[in-house]
Amino acid sequence: MYMSVVSTLLSRNSVKFVKGPAPKQADLEQILQAAMVAPDHGRLRPWRFKLIRDESVQALGELAIRTAEADGKPLTDQKAASVRMWLKNVPLLVAVACQIDHSDEKIPESERLLATGAGVMNILNAAHALGYGAYWSTGLGTYSHTVPEELGFDELDYRFMGFVALGTLPERVPTKERPSFEEFVSEWKPGSDL
Ligand SMILES: Cc1cc2nc3c(=O)[nH]c(=O)nc-3n(C[C@H](O)[C@H](O)[C@H](O)COP(=O)(O)O)c2cc1C
Repeated sequence: MYMSVVSTLLSRNSVKFVKGPAPKQADLEQILQAAMVAPDHGRLRPWRFKLIRDESVQALGELAIRTAEADGKPLTDQKAASVRMWLKNVPLLVAVACQIDHSDEKIPESERLLATGAGVMNILNAAHALGYGAYWSTGLGTYSHTVPEELGFDELDYRFMGFVALGTLPERVPTKERPSFEEFVSEWKPGSDL
């Protein structure tokens, strides 16, 4: 049982060009519930998710394009076309925000962000395990003032962390080369770095 869970983890790929239909309701509930088991110092539950479906996905894309222009950083025609081309088939975006508590002096903000990120990772893994495609993006005006604000995440109380596109896998999903863990892991013993 554990082996098959690990092989599922090892075979995950981000899939940007997902298409409809979106995960069916029972699957979506499991995917979102997976975020609730993320490690979370102090049980702060800082993660917040907003579901954006169907035509609202394209509307969000247009908002991001307008916002970039209003902020003096207009997308090139080519970039705007590629955003529209991507979103026209995406059935569901999950907007991700991390709630900040300015009065909390014990647990640093970075830990809230890490817990929220771990929640998103669980969403990506659960989607993959259930046979869906998922992709985390911090495009679409994530770092603008307007887009998070329009989604109800004001700058004071939230750190906006982007969008997860969720949907049905395309016909072909290329496999990716992954580095060997050995490049990133070493052993420490007392005195070994002296
Ligand atoms: C917080 C976060 C934000 C990301 N934002 C973008 C993005 O805006 N554009 C992009 O091309 N990839 C972005 N990525 C990377 C993709 O989600 C994905 O991880 C990458 O394409 C590698 O695919 P893999 O997850 O299968 O290794 C982001 C990843 C993370 C963790």
